Amino acid sequence: MRSPSISHPATYSRMQWTGWSTLMLLALGVAAYALWLLAASNPPDFAASLLARQPVGAFVHFACSPLALVAGALQINRAIRTRHLVLHRWLGRLYVLAVLLGGASGLSMALQAQGGPVSEWGFGLLAVLWLLSTGLGFVAMRRNQRTAHRDWMLRSYALTLAAITLRIYIPASMVAGLPFEEAYRVIAWLCWVPNLLVAEWVVRRLRRTASA
Ligand code: HEM
Repeated sequence: MRSPSISHPATYSRMQWTGWSTLMLLALGVAAYALWLLAASNPPDFAASLLARQPVGAFVHFACSPLALVAGALQINRAIRTRHLVLHRWLGRLYVLAVLLGGASGLSMALQAQGGPVSEWGFGLLAVLWLLSTGLGFVAMRRNQRTAHRDWMLRSYALTLAAITLRIYIPASMVAGLPFEEAYRVIAWLCWVPNLLVAEWVVRRLRRTASA
C-alpha cells in the first residue's frame, strides 16, 4: 500500500519547488562562472594559470562540467522527469557525455591540483568516482534496471554538486581566516565526501520506502 506521506510522482510541494529552485540557481551561478572563465579576456590568475598549464584539459573541463551541473538539476526534479520522459532521456545522454568529458579532464587537472598530494588524491578520487557512478547509472539504464539507475545517478549528481559545495567552503574558509593552502587540502575532500554520504542515506531511505 502506498504510504500517505508520498505525494503523486508528478506533484511537487511548495517546499520541494523552493529547495529545487535554490539548487538550480546555485547550479546556474556556478555554471555561468565556469563559462565566464572561458570567455573573459582577463580571467582571474588561478584560472588563467590552469588554462595556460593545461589548455585542452581546462577548456574541456570549464565547458563540459557546467552542462552536467545544470542538466543534472533538471534530471533530479521528479515533476519534470515524470511529465517529460523524452526530455529526461535526452538530458540523460547529455549528462553522461558531459560527465565523461568533464570527469576525464578533471582527472588530468587533479594530477596537478594546488595543495599537493592531499588535494591531488581528493580531486582524483572524486573524478574516478564521478566517472564510475555515472557509468554504472548509464549501464543500469541500458539494462532497464530502474532502481539501480536511480541510485547510481543520485550518487553521481551528489558528486557533481561538489562544484557548488567547493565554492561555498572556499569563501567560508577565507571568512574564517584559515590559511588557504591548508584549508584547500581539507576542502578537496570535504567538497564531496559528505555529499556522497547524504546521497547514500537518500538511496537507502528510498529503498526502504519502496519496500514498505
Ligand atoms: C565532480 C567532479 C569534478 C572534479 C574531479 C573536478 C576537478 C577539478 C580540478 C582538479 C580543478 C583544478 C583545481 C586546482 O588546480 O587546484 C578544477 C577546477 C575547476 N572546476 Fe572542476 N571538477 C569537477 C566538477 C566540476 C563541475 C561540475 C564544474 C561545473 C561548473 C567544475 C568547474 C570548475 C572550474 C570553474 C574550475 C576552475 C577553478 C575555479 O576557478 O574555481 N568542476 N576542477
